[in-house]
Amino acid sequence: KKHRIAVIPGDGIGLEVIDAGKKVLETLVESYPSVGFEFKDFDWSSKRYLEKGQYIPDGGIEELKTFDAIYFGAVGSEEVPDHISLWDLRLKICQGFDQYANVRPARVLPGVTSRLQHADKIDWVIIRENSEGEYSGNGGRVHQGLPDEVGTEVSLFTRKGIERIHRFAFDMAMSRPRKKLTLVTKSNAQRHGMVLWDEIFFEVAKDYPEVEINRELVDAVTTTMVLKPERLDVIVATNLHADIISDLAAALSGSLGIAPTANLNPSGEFPSMFEPIHGSAFDITGKGIANPIGAFWTAVMMLEHLGEQTLAERLMAAVEEVIGSGLQAPDLGGKATTREITDAVCASIREK
Ligand code: NAI
Ligand code: MG
Repeated sequence: KKHRIAVIPGDGIGLEVIDAGKKVLETLVESYPSVGFEFKDFDWSSKRYLEKGQYIPDGGIEELKTFDAIYFGAVGSEEVPDHISLWDLRLKICQGFDQYANVRPARVLPGVTSRLQHADKIDWVIIRENSEGEYSGNGGRVHQGLPDEVGTEVSLFTRKGIERIHRFAFDMAMSRPRKKLTLVTKSNAQRHGMVLWDEIFFEVAKDYPEVEINRELVDAVTTTMVLKPERLDVIVATNLHADIISDLAAALSGSLGIAPTANLNPSGEFPSMFEPIHGSAFDITGKGIANPIGAFWTAVMMLEHLGEQTLAERLMAAVEEVIGSGLQAPDLGGKATTREITDAVCASIREK
C-alpha cells in the first residue's frame, strides 16, 4: 500500500529531525516492497511567513485533506512572536482537521538515564484534549496601554468536546494491560468548566466497568509523577494541563528530544498529524546535534495509525537497539550527531 504523507518540517531543528525521519522511513520500506510512502514537502514555516505574510497559503488546508497523514517538525522563530506562529500554523491544522485527541506516550527507553530515581516505573499515555478548553482563543483586551488595561482568557468546554475525549481515554485505557485511567483537573478552584469535565468523566466511566479510575488535581499529579510514577497509566487532562504535565513526563523520561506525539482525528474524516513534542530549539539549530529519536518515535506512531504495525515494531526495535547501545545525542549526555544516530538506526533496520 502506498501512503501519501504531507511533510511539514517547519522551523529550526524541525528541518533536521524530519529529514532524518524520512530517511529512516525510506530505509524501512526497502524491506517491505508492498508498502510505500509518497512524501510531499510543504515549506510552511516562519521563513515563509516573513517572506510572504502567511504560514499556510490560500487553499493549503484543502490540499492537506487529501493526505493519509501529516508528519510535522516544529514551528517557532526568534523573528515571529510565538503566539502567531503557533496559531497560524500548528493550531490551524489541529483545529481545522478536528484533531481533538492528542496522545503522548512516555516511558524510559533502554540506555536512557533519567534524573528520576524510579524512572523505570514510568509507562504512561497522556491524553490531551486538543480542540477547546484553555486554548480555544476566547478573550480579549480592553483599554490597551492604559493603567486599567484588562486581558481575559476564557476557557471553553462543551459537553460534546468533553465526552469524546473521555471516551477516547477510556478506550485507550482498555487497550492497555493495567487498564487504569486518572482524571486530572483543577475543579476545586475552577468551578464551572472543570466541574463539567469531572461530571462527564464519571458518566462515561459507567460504560467502562473494567477500567480502574481515580482523580487527581493537576498540582497533585505532578508530585505523583515524580514520587509514585507506578500509580499512573493513562491520564486524561485538559489542553493546558496536559500540555504542562506532558513536558514534565518527557523530561522525567530522559529528554524533550525523544518524546513523540500524535494529534488524532479519531473519526478518520481528516488526516491526523504526528510530531515530536520539542520545538525548533534555536540554541542548537544548524549544529547537526539535534536528537532525531523524537522524530523516529513519532514515525512509529504514524505507522501504527496507518495500520503498518509490523513496520512500526521494526522501527521501534531499531530505535531501542541504537539508543540502548549508548549511541546518544548531547541532550542525553552523549556525543553522537543527528547523522550518526540516523545512520545507525538505518543500519539496524537493514540488519533485522
Ligand atoms: P524547544 O523544545 O525548542 O527547546 C527546549 C530545550 O530542549 C532547548 O535547550 C533545546 O536545545 C532542547 N531540545 C529540544 N529538542 C531537542 C532535540 N531534538 N535534541 C536535542 N535537544 C533538544 O523549546 P523552546 O526553546 O521553549 O522553544 C523554541 C521555539 O520552539 C519557540 O518558538 C517555541 O514556540 C517553539 N515550540 C514549538 C513547538 C511545536 O512546534 N510543537 C513545541 C514547543 C516549542
Ligand atoms: Mg508544550
